[in-house]
Amino acid sequence: MDKFIINGGRQLCGRIKAGGSKNAALPILFSTLLTDEECVLERVPDLRDIKTTFNLLQHLGKKVEYSDGTAVIKPLNRIGTSAPYDLVKQMRASVLVAGPLLARFGEARVPLPGGCAIGLRPVDIHLKGFETLGAQITHERGDMIITGQRLHGETIKLSFPSVGATENLLMCASLVPGRTVIENAALEPEIEDLVAFLKSMGARIEKEGVSSYIVEGAAMLHGARHTIIADRIEAGTYLLAGAATGGSVEVTDCEPEHLRALLEKMSEAGVKIKTTASSIKAEMALKRPKPVDVETKPHPGFPTDLQAPWMAFICRARGESRVVEEIFENRFMHVAELGRMGANIAARGREVAACGVAELSGTSVMSSDLRGGAALVIAALSAQGQSEVQRVYHIDRGYEKMEEKLSSLGGDIQRVNPGPWK
Ligand code: UD1
Repeated sequence: MDKFIINGGRQLCGRIKAGGSKNAALPILFSTLLTDEECVLERVPDLRDIKTTFNLLQHLGKKVEYSDGTAVIKPLNRIGTSAPYDLVKQMRASVLVAGPLLARFGEARVPLPGGCAIGLRPVDIHLKGFETLGAQITHERGDMIITGQRLHGETIKLSFPSVGATENLLMCASLVPGRTVIENAALEPEIEDLVAFLKSMGARIEKEGVSSYIVEGAAMLHGARHTIIADRIEAGTYLLAGAATGGSVEVTDCEPEHLRALLEKMSEAGVKIKTTASSIKAEMALKRPKPVDVETKPHPGFPTDLQAPWMAFICRARGESRVVEEIFENRFMHVAELGRMGANIAARGREVAACGVAELSGTSVMSSDLRGGAALVIAALSAQGQSEVQRVYHIDRGYEKMEEKLSSLGGDIQRVNPGPWK
């Protein structure tokens, strides 16, 4: 298993380009199941979750060609409607096959994704939405079987603005006869990107008010070409890494508006932020950050995916900061590991209190999830001495060539593979 060896204490300085967004690419890749025509997607990041998605699309009958960030997806065989457990268990977002398959073929069989390191993560909001559109749900041997030959547009009010449920229902409703209204929908930029792609396939989707989508089902959708938006979470992670090391990092080819909540909090903590239409520069103006409280919220609030990287930054503040996790019930696996590096930090329920320390010290730590792993890398880069961050495979799910990008900014980070037993 790969691990990172990081010699901390070096300021990160320089400029890097944001990669394509993983969380935008995943639903867009799944929505190619809505057509038999060729789709061409650009700026698709080279990540483990993306490869899992390609495998799933291939299993279902698509041909996928991928090189230099461009994925060409076309039909190869008759499209199947059953997703295998071996792939679904690798990536929870696999549940996004359900919406397109149900809409096109009237059935989808998807293994229940089960819990994961950051919480239970049920899919009840997805299923309730499908039922409102006229689908029936049964369960067999751990699989959800969703069927519905006569779906019809309806008004669906989500009990929580779930990102995945909004995506699944938008994809499904694009081919469901009649008018579907999705109320209390999630507003993340990745959803806007999915809507842009679906519209370029011929879907009729309009936003109504602040948080509703109206979808007029089309008889069929056609192939399309699309460029994926920048990964705001990756961009935010590198900006925080730069600030945590007292450095100055500029991320180009990104959308500053997508990171507004983070940038406001970074400014409050003493980071000088400069933006252009497509770049963000974050320069740490103080030796240690000022303490700042953060609560994660659905977009446009502070993103839960940056909660762990933020914590790695704020645990060296001059004073106490609070972090409240409002989205997931168990997203604090990194807290104990940060504690091993000398952070004075304690979790209680959904809240963490971090009493800033002057220095962290390098040691061996273990990633237990994607963003928690990124937080440990940030902490190790800002710590004194050497750290080992183990289980890098979590980080590889969502960060493309992380060690290369950080090295280009002056970080001392190496990937090593000590063999399967470690
Ligand atoms: C997506 C993102 C993930 C991000 C999250 C919140 C992808 C591939 N993943 O995950 O990186 O952290 O949004 O911004 O885009 N919930 C239910 N029932 C449901 C669905 C969700 O109770 O049917 C709960 C979840 O357990 C969680 C909360 O709602 O506590 C948010 O989940 P959701 O917005 O659906 O996140 P994902 O789409 O899984």
